Amino acid sequence: MEFRHKSVLLEESIDALQIKPDGIYVDGTLGGGGHSYEICTHLSDKGRLIGIDQDEAAIEAATGRLERFKDRVTIVRSNYCNMKRELGRLGITSVDGVILDLGVSSYQLDEASRGFTYREDAPLDMRMDQRQTLSAKEVVNEYSEMELYHIIRDYGEEKFAKNIAKHIVSARNQKALETTGELIHVIKAAIPAKVRAVGGHPAKRTFQAIRIEVNRELDVLENSLGDMIDLLNDGGRICVITFHSLEDRIVKNKFRECENPCTCPKEFPVCVCGKKSKGKVITRKPVIPSQEELEENSRAKSSKLRVFEREIQ
Ligand SMILES: C[S@@+](CC[C@H](N)C(=O)[O-])C[C@H]1O[C@@H](n2cnc3c(N)ncnc32)[C@H](O)[C@@H]1O
Repeated sequence: MEFRHKSVLLEESIDALQIKPDGIYVDGTLGGGGHSYEICTHLSDKGRLIGIDQDEAAIEAATGRLERFKDRVTIVRSNYCNMKRELGRLGITSVDGVILDLGVSSYQLDEASRGFTYREDAPLDMRMDQRQTLSAKEVVNEYSEMELYHIIRDYGEEKFAKNIAKHIVSARNQKALETTGELIHVIKAAIPAKVRAVGGHPAKRTFQAIRIEVNRELDVLENSLGDMIDLLNDGGRICVITFHSLEDRIVKNKFRECENPCTCPKEFPVCVCGKKSKGKVITRKPVIPSQEELEENSRAKSSKLRVFEREIQ
């Protein structure tokens, strides 16, 4: 299947990066290479782009898409949480900009065999990195009812999380759930018919929750942002596009903490904790897509861009 994905907040994020033609940039969520392509068009022959993705299909698609930029581009299959190590392997210790465009690509969603979609019947999978062992099948069949409830409630913001978790456990006690179709059937039965009749697909929120759990999306983000900010040169910027309120909160809080890490009580006249600011938040409020983008690309809905600039004191 062709790799189709329309980049979100493309112009806004590329502008925010303030690309230096000779700089080194990292795209930690390469996907189809949409953002990376734009970065490369701003680079001179001395500039470099390192593109990271954990998904083999994304690596293949982006390799083709970025071919014309040749030596300017290095593509690495890895999790962006390994960015510092992967750059170290390439002899790079600092960079001028980092971009993350989180979540899954339209390709991953549309390719039924990956098990992300609630629109077709496929094996329960949802792994972005198919080398990892944990898949949706284990989450659905092996997690306790309480764990499922918390995941579906918190990551899916699903009102009927408790009932869905209960129905999953009672269904799997009869027979393990193997496919997205079987899971959808169970979810539908757990949501009142009146509610099902309005709003989007009844399985949407539960699928999102399981996907976030399978790929440890929030932990990875939380544990990587600090390292990425540390990698930036003076004046370098990190741009993060999120699609979920919990992701956005992690980015907002981490950026704030890096701007003002001081833990001294407010009444202290001078700082004694010694924690120094790493830079400044550029976006007090997140940048959101224009009306035009929202009309053109439904995936842009709920996207938010936050930007932080490194200042080395
Ligand atoms: C929304 S898409 C990126 C699309 C890309 N910006 C473009 O314009 O074509 C997100 C991509 O990030 C990858 N991804 C998500 N989390 C990742 C992580 N922790 N490490 C590496 N890749 C990740 C996914 O596999 C997917 O290909």
